Amino acid sequence: MKIFIDSANLTEIEEALRRGFVQGITTNPSLLAKEPKAEFATHIGKILELIQRHSPGIHLSVEVFSRDPDEILQQAKNFIHNFNYPELSVKVQIGWNELEVIKRLASENISVNCTACMSVTQGMMAAAAGAKFVSFFWGRIRDAQKIEEKMQNIHTVGSDERGVLENFARIKREMMERKALEEDDFDPFYVVRKAREIFDKAYPQVQIISGSMRSSSDVKNAALAGSHIITVPPKFFNDMISHFKTDEVVGQFLADFSQWIT
Ligand code: E4P
Repeated sequence: MKIFIDSANLTEIEEALRRGFVQGITTNPSLLAKEPKAEFATHIGKILELIQRHSPGIHLSVEVFSRDPDEILQQAKNFIHNFNYPELSVKVQIGWNELEVIKRLASENISVNCTACMSVTQGMMAAAAGAKFVSFFWGRIRDAQKIEEKMQNIHTVGSDERGVLENFARIKREMMERKALEEDDFDPFYVVRKAREIFDKAYPQVQIISGSMRSSSDVKNAALAGSHIITVPPKFFNDMISHFKTDEVVGQFLADFSQWIT
């Protein structure tokens, strides 16, 4: 099991790489958009410089930014050519049209991290098409579990969000009616656990990345569910490393020892 950092922030990345517990980096268009506006290739180049300085050879996932298959293919090839980093994986979102691109990239030995997966069947199709990594969005899978709960309080949300919620609730209801999804499919632990069981038998070379973490407990549970990799936003690193009883005992050890060593 590996921990990746889910960030495009150069300071956060360097702080994590210096501590050695991070074995990969995942970015996405929204994470990049949080950074000061810059030339996309220049920013990725700076991430690669940090990798070379602190952890040469670790994984880096960079996501395409199009829904058009031809554009996705071109962007993926540009990434491989321009960044020239052997451990680079191209993140391509799951989708009917994207499967053809995934197959094409895999046939050209380009590593694909198929992302935005929410269901076991999406993961199966991504793996079967040739993806090397399949990224399940733990937090968003669980969000979909809570749609009905949110609908009960729909009067508390704005009209735009209400429209989105009503549309999601309708789609979810229709998918469940035709057995495209079942109740368990909205439990991220179930999705990742079952995907891992399937992949171990059918696609042992494909690695499951769990992303969309919303707490350090999500990180633990994603590991327990069988994720090969958990990609973690840096804001959860402190919760992962801290415990009040640790602080207590280290303080006690140092106090006791200082009395004795004098
Ligand atoms: C990881 O690769 C994903 O892009 C990321 O974890 C998504 O997180 P979000 O669902 O909080 O946007």
